[in-house]
Amino acid sequence: MENHKKLSPKLSLLAASLPSTVPFVAPEMTERATGKMFIARLGANESSFGPSPKVEKAIADACSEVFKYGDPDAYDLKQELSKHWNIPAENIIVGEGIDGLMGTLCRLMLDQGDIVVTSNGAYPTFNYQVLGVGGVLEVVPYLNDFEDPDALLSQAKLSGAKMIYIANPDNPMGTHHNAEKIQTMIDSVPDDCLLVLDEAYIELAPNGVASTIDVTNKNVIRLRTFSKAYGLAGARVGYAIGHIDLIKAFDKIRNHFGVNTIGQKAALAALKDQAYVLKIRSAVEHGRNRVEQIALENGLTVIPSSTNFVAIDCGADGDFTRKVLAELVGMGIFVRMASVEPQDRCLRVSIGVPEDIERFALAFPIALERAHAS
Ligand SMILES: Cc1ncc(COP(=O)(O)O)c(C=O)c1O
Repeated sequence: MENHKKLSPKLSLLAASLPSTVPFVAPEMTERATGKMFIARLGANESSFGPSPKVEKAIADACSEVFKYGDPDAYDLKQELSKHWNIPAENIIVGEGIDGLMGTLCRLMLDQGDIVVTSNGAYPTFNYQVLGVGGVLEVVPYLNDFEDPDALLSQAKLSGAKMIYIANPDNPMGTHHNAEKIQTMIDSVPDDCLLVLDEAYIELAPNGVASTIDVTNKNVIRLRTFSKAYGLAGARVGYAIGHIDLIKAFDKIRNHFGVNTIGQKAALAALKDQAYVLKIRSAVEHGRNRVEQIALENGLTVIPSSTNFVAIDCGADGDFTRKVLAELVGMGIFVRMASVEPQDRCLRVSIGVPEDIERFALAFPIALERAHAS
């Protein structure tokens, strides 16, 4: 029936001005669009090794409690995190993954028009959250496949930025700066600026990448997650560590029941099973070496990675890599690539279980050959 009403509910001016955005096309979306299931899931930097058996048991045990809202304070998990990192629990906030925490942080920190500095081609969900509250992004280029702390700082000082974003180690290139470099960056952040230090991959990085946590510093917030090394991406649990004033401020606007009951129990069990994290570290290192070997067998090189993925330099431009990607996807191999020149010469392969890596190994030379031929 035709609607004759003259008025209709309107979006906010900001929301109306924003394009609908999908920061990442999920593999399920591609499967629905193509009608074909992927045979190897190596694109989202998940841990297809899965969580530890102890975590699986905790999840099974928690099922009967799912009728309860999750503890809005995530008290038990925060106490365990506090013990684990030797910092007070009041300096920790638990949220719906780093992505969820980023959204709340942007709402807390940014007025419309405030400037935020990041690297061109860095983790896109952060940009999405900044734009979603009317922030203005300024970008600096990567330097030799590394995010560039000096350029980020200079740009932030020049434009009076409210926040700077850096991931250490970085996604999509997998490179890292050592703790000293990051500490120098933290020490140089302008007094009225907040450094958003995304440490999603820190558990998988070599020792010496994490700088010392100083919860008295008002100019840095660290974001961490159970999605990567702990294998709990679908449980949506992350946490932030920062100065007590900023952490307390989350209570002004956060989604108090956002972290679900099962996710909290799973994260708690995961944190307690550090022996499993060590196993995953070694499995991921093995997988990185195997992907490097596959690249070499195809006459290509990789960017040395400190994460659970490897960027393979496909040896040409982004258009070529996009063709390789399309061929791989066509063969049922879910991988992704960097989005921005010159990083977009790289194909990003997550370190999953060896069976998936071997499926990639079989498909990759065919994809390269077809991309060359097209
Ligand atoms: C740099 C970076 N930050 C954050 C995330 C998302 O973390 P979470 O699953 O906790 O939202 C990812 C996931 O790929 C990432 O690469």
